[in-house]
Amino acid sequence: MSGASPVLAIEGLSVRFGGHLAVSEVSLQVHDGRISGLIGPNGAGKTTTFNAICGVTQPTSGRVLLEGRDISRLPTHQRARRGIGRTFQRLEVFSSLSVADNVRVGLEIRRSWSRRRPPAPQFLVGPEAIEVDPDTEVDLIVGRLGLAEVVDVPVGALPTGSARKVELGRALAARPRVLLLDEPASGLDDRETEDFGHLLGELAAAGLGVLLVEHDVALVMRVCAELSVLNFGQVIAAGTPSEVQSNRAVLDAYLGGRSESATTAAESAGVALGPGDPGVGS
Ligand SMILES: Nc1ncnc2c1ncn2[C@@H]1O[C@H](COP(=O)(O)OP(=O)(O)OP(=O)(O)O)[C@@H](O)[C@H]1O
Ligand SMILES: [Mg+2]
Repeated sequence: MSGASPVLAIEGLSVRFGGHLAVSEVSLQVHDGRISGLIGPNGAGKTTTFNAICGVTQPTSGRVLLEGRDISRLPTHQRARRGIGRTFQRLEVFSSLSVADNVRVGLEIRRSWSRRRPPAPQFLVGPEAIEVDPDTEVDLIVGRLGLAEVVDVPVGALPTGSARKVELGRALAARPRVLLLDEPASGLDDRETEDFGHLLGELAAAGLGVLLVEHDVALVMRVCAELSVLNFGQVIAAGTPSEVQSNRAVLDAYLGGRSESATTAAESAGVALGPGDPGVGS
């Protein structure tokens, strides 16, 4: 792990729903220019962690730091304004609006926060710090996501893979400092998933910090610089993909488990499961 300051850090985060501790003392960091993965079985607490980072859910304890500043007490919209962007496990798009207008919503929200016109993000215009007008920015985002051919199509008429890109486009239009993606590859076919992985890599290469929740373990292993593994709300392992992949606790709880999602995850990660064997390797 790098010594550079993380763009996002969560420290000792816990979330309780009544008597159920859904997230327990979770700490993790996201760095500029890197994709960090957050993986674990169904119900492990991944989405709840996202909700606590965004302020949708109030944590019982712990802190969320964005660029070193404690944002734990801020309401959701102020966290978004300071640079927390996200997409949702259950796709959230305006289905009757066109692709361009969905992206424009993110951009208009940002413009309502500030009329300042900072240079366009590097992933859109390259390293040169140039300003672009709003219509151009929408076009650039749509083009960057490979959606130019469907720019005027209502999102409800598009396949899931394209609609997920639209949701990503809306999040990017708000120019987040860090992007939280909750199962962005769900509903995508193999080809779309591969393309999506490349796109994420390009976003990170342009400097964005990404926290990725994803059950497609093959994708996670390919694109993430580091991983945290949640099980029953607790981080049971953290490290590089290869460290995590050979961790006994992870194999037992997730990659080598018997649940349907774990089996699918293990298969897509190329981890062979023996009959009744709780795990392999390590
Ligand atoms: N609003 C809520 N009220 C009560 N319990 C909740 C609430 N939201 C989540 N939970 C519970 O908290 C636990 C963690 O759920 P969460 O949705 O964060 O898991 P997840 O890791 O995102 O799972 P999945 O991979 O299925 O999306 C689960 O036991 C879930 O039932
Ligand atoms: Mg979830």
